[in-house]
Amino acid sequence: MERVQIERLVAGGDALARMSDGRVAFVDGALPGETVDIEVVQSKKDFVKARLIEVVDSSKDRVVPACPHVADGCGGCSWQHLHTAIHMSAKLEIVRESLRRVAKLGDIDVREGGSVPIDHARTTLRMAVMPSGRMGFRRAQSNEVIGIESCLVAHPLLQELITDARVSGASEATLRCGAESGDRGVWLHDERGRNVKTAVIEGIADDVQVGRRAIIRETVHGVTLEVSMSSFFQSSPQAAELIVSAVNDAAGDAALSGEDGPIIDAYGGCGLFGATLIDLEVPVTLVESNKSACADARRNLRDHRARIEEIAFEQWQPTRAGLVIADPARSGLGKTGVSTIVGTRAKTVVLVSCDAVAGARDIGLLVEAGYACNGVTVLDVFPYTHHVEMVSRFTLES
Ligand SMILES: C[S@@+](CC[C@H](N)C(=O)[O-])C[C@H]1O[C@@H](n2cnc3c(N)ncnc32)[C@H](O)[C@@H]1O
Repeated sequence: MERVQIERLVAGGDALARMSDGRVAFVDGALPGETVDIEVVQSKKDFVKARLIEVVDSSKDRVVPACPHVADGCGGCSWQHLHTAIHMSAKLEIVRESLRRVAKLGDIDVREGGSVPIDHARTTLRMAVMPSGRMGFRRAQSNEVIGIESCLVAHPLLQELITDARVSGASEATLRCGAESGDRGVWLHDERGRNVKTAVIEGIADDVQVGRRAIIRETVHGVTLEVSMSSFFQSSPQAAELIVSAVNDAAGDAALSGEDGPIIDAYGGCGLFGATLIDLEVPVTLVESNKSACADARRNLRDHRARIEEIAFEQWQPTRAGLVIADPARSGLGKTGVSTIVGTRAKTVVLVSCDAVAGARDIGLLVEAGYACNGVTVLDVFPYTHHVEMVSRFTLES
């Protein structure tokens, strides 16, 4: 055991401290300014992972978790112990530090965007199934499933499903509802998101659709979208609204009007950006690797001048564009995604990143490739967690 002083919160949600031997310690559950006793659980040459044993001198920003399941070990929300008023400033600092450390870009303008309501907003939840058939969330860094009676972040339409449903034959379930439509659905699958045809669910109301092809309608920016259970959708309609607005501001009217050339919606999912931000007559190509999301996009963009390319973005043959909107999964664009964007010669690029480190790396790669980064807006769309959402704007340097 060692007593340490916590310096700051880092990407991934842990708190950083220095050990007496000079190594960095990443401590789960501690806060900046606190003096804590820790126990090393994993030791590496330059750093250790440590467990919080006791808070000796507590931060004024520490609160009693609002959710009772944190005490049971639920790993769903990593920052329940940090006052919600501090979440945005902590996320801004994590983004700035990632840009300094990973991209070596300390001078980028990083601004605060909006936050979604804290409680009962999430309309999509991925849950694990217990041997009893009840649903829960995994303990942090563990496969153990903690049973959940009610979830503080879940939309009220999902609460009853969480409490009453009993699942057999599948290890995980995705629950989704439409806040505006009232639609509800459940999809049973394995840990890798593969459909399990033989799985059974009991105890749910008649209106709940079951299966990966079930379609949930959700309204964003006044547009009703159809989203299949096995397609990606933002965590809540409020999150989708915030991201759509930030992308709109970053892209600007000229680029969105098609003035600079066609638009590429890379990693376009069910067509959220195309349907909400792009006029019907403006040519847009949506590139997306997931079959079900492409089928949704074909429906959601049926009245647009849209081309849907069902292919991994990194394998797509780039075509000339005026604007690229890229919203990759957590792993980000990487070198191949960036070189595909560069191949479009787009004047404006808007990058949506949901991981501070991958986002900073991608920003660095785009800057290296000749794009100027005009600023990063940080959104808080995952309340009670360390997860950040970043919307960055780039213009091609001539
Ligand atoms: C963060 S989601 C964004 C979706 C959409 N922009 C939205 O806001 O609803 C990322 C999307 O990228 C897709 N995807 C993941 N890897 C991909 C790849 N290599 N190439 C193309 N699409 C990919 C996923 O299926 C998912 O729909």
